[in-house]
Amino acid sequence: MGVLSASVCFFSCSPVSIGVSKFKLDLEVVIPMNRKYMFVLIPLLAVVALDIAVIAREYATEAPAGFDTPTLAQNPGSQSISNGIAQPAGDTYALDQTKFEQDHDASTGLGPVFNARACADCHQNPVSGGSSQFTEVRAGHLDEDGNFVAATVPINDGASTIANRSLINDRALLPQAQEHLPAMEDLRALRAALNTLGDGFVEAIDDNTLRNIAQRQIALTAGRIHGEAVEVPVLEAPGQSRIGRFGWKDQHSSLLSFIGDAYLNEMGVTNRLRPQDVTTIGKITPDPEDVPDHLGLADIDHFAQFIRGTKVPPRDVALAATAASQAGEAIFENIGCATCHVSAIVTAPPGTSINGGAFTVPEALGDKIIHPYGDFLLHDIGTGDGIVQNPPEDTANKLRTVPLWGLRMHPRHMHDLQSLTLEDAIERHGGEAEQERDHFRRLSPEEQQALFTFLNSL
Ligand code: HEC
Ligand code: HEC
Repeated sequence: MGVLSASVCFFSCSPVSIGVSKFKLDLEVVIPMNRKYMFVLIPLLAVVALDIAVIAREYATEAPAGFDTPTLAQNPGSQSISNGIAQPAGDTYALDQTKFEQDHDASTGLGPVFNARACADCHQNPVSGGSSQFTEVRAGHLDEDGNFVAATVPINDGASTIANRSLINDRALLPQAQEHLPAMEDLRALRAALNTLGDGFVEAIDDNTLRNIAQRQIALTAGRIHGEAVEVPVLEAPGQSRIGRFGWKDQHSSLLSFIGDAYLNEMGVTNRLRPQDVTTIGKITPDPEDVPDHLGLADIDHFAQFIRGTKVPPRDVALAATAASQAGEAIFENIGCATCHVSAIVTAPPGTSINGGAFTVPEALGDKIIHPYGDFLLHDIGTGDGIVQNPPEDTANKLRTVPLWGLRMHPRHMHDLQSLTLEDAIERHGGEAEQERDHFRRLSPEEQQALFTFLNSL
C-alpha cells in the first residue's frame, strides 16, 4: 500500500506535497497569508484530505489529454488519436469517428422530428466530440399536486400529438410534423450541448466514488452542500440501475444509454435501445433505423466506441504555468469552489463490471486520474430549470455541476448559455453555492482576475 505523508504549513506559503508509492502527486496549494482567508483554512484542509482520498489508489496514472479528434471534411478520423482503447474486431477508430460525423437524411432514418443531422453538428468544438453553442428546448408543466409533467405537443394542426416528452424538437422533415409548444406547457428551459471528450473515463467512475464525494460535501459544509446522486435505469441492462452522471440532469449513467437516447431525441434515428419514432408523420423508414453493419456493430456502438476512445480535454499548459493561474487555482480551492468542482477523481480498476454488467472497464480507462472540476452530482444553486427527467421530484430545480474541463472552449456559460462572462456565471451561483459566491465577491479585483485566468486555463 502507498505511504501517505503530507505536511501543511499554516502561515507560510510552502506547497502541500503528498507522496504515494507508484505515483507521486504534488498538490500545490498555496495558502495566502491574507487574513480574510483564515476562515477557510479548516475547510481547505478537509478539501485537501478529500483530494488525497479520491486520488490515492496505488496504480493510478494520469488519463491522456488532448484535442486529438480533428473534424476533417476529407478522410474523417484519419488524423485522430484515441486514448488507446482496444477496438472491436475489424473496427477502426477512424470509422467510429466517421459515423459520429455522418450527416443523415430521411432515407437513413433522420426525423420525422429532430434537432440536427449529425452528432458532430452539436459536438464539435474544437474537435469532434467537444461541445458547441447549440441549445435545445425542454418543456412541461406542474400538475395540481405540484409534480412535473412532461409536455404533450399537438402537431399536424392538432390531428396528432407527441405525448409526455420534455424534449421539444426544433426541426421536422415536413411542416405537418413541426412541434409548437401549447401555452399550458409553461415550464420552458434551454439546455446547452455538452462536451463528450473524456466521457469514457467519467463512465468508468465507480458509484461509490460519487457517493463518497457527496458524503464529504456534507461533512465539509455541515450539510449546506449536499450533492444528490440519482439512480437511473441502464437501458442496455433491463432492470439494472446505476448512478447517473451524464446530461444536465444526470439522466444517464452509461454512454450507450445516453447515445441511444440521443440518436432518437436529437436526430430521430430509432435504434435497439429506443426502437420507436415519436410520430409516423413523414416517416419513410421502418423501425429500428439503426441496424448492425458487416462488423455486427450498429451506429450507436460506433458512437460509444468513439466517445469512450476520446482523451480528456487538455489544459492550456502555457497559461496554467503562469503565476496568475496558479494563484487563481489556490483561490478556487480556498474559497470552496472545488467542493463541487472536484479537481481530481480516480476511475475504477480495469476489469470492473459496470452498467449493470453490460460493460467492463477496459485497460485504457481503468485506474486513471482525471481532472474534471466537477462532481457529477445534482445541486440546487438557484438556476434550476424546473424539469424532472428521473425521480425524485426534488431534482426539478437541480442541475449537475458542470465539469469545468474544456471551459476555455465556451464563450457562453451555464446550462442556458445565458452568461456571457465568467463573472456573471459565478454571480448566478446561489442556493447551495451562496457562500462560495459571497467569498468570490469579497476577493480583490486582482484576485478575481487571477481566478478568471485559472478558469481560462481549463
Ligand atoms: C442538436 C444538437 C445535438 C445533437 C445532434 C446531438 N447532441 Fe448530444 N447533447 C446535446 C445536448 C443539448 C446535450 C445536453 C442534454 C441535456 O442534458 O439536456 C447533449 C449531451 C450529450 C452527452 C452527455 C455528455 C455529458 O458529459 O454529460 C452525450 C454522451 C451525447 N450528447 C452524445 C451524442 C451523440 C452520440 C449524438 C449523435 C447520436 C449526439 N449527442 C447528438 C446536443 C446534441
Ligand atoms: C454547490 C456546488 C457548487 C459550488 C460550491 C460552485 N459551483 Fe460552479 N457550478 C455548479 C453548478 C450546479 C453549475 C451549473 C449551473 C447551471 O448551469 O445553471 C455550475 C457552473 C459553473 C460555471 C459555468 C461553467 C460553464 O461553462 O457553463 C462556472 C464558471 C463555475 N460554476 C465556477 C464556479 C466558481 C468559480 C465557484 C466558486 C466561487 C463555483 N463555481 C462554486 C455548482 C457549484
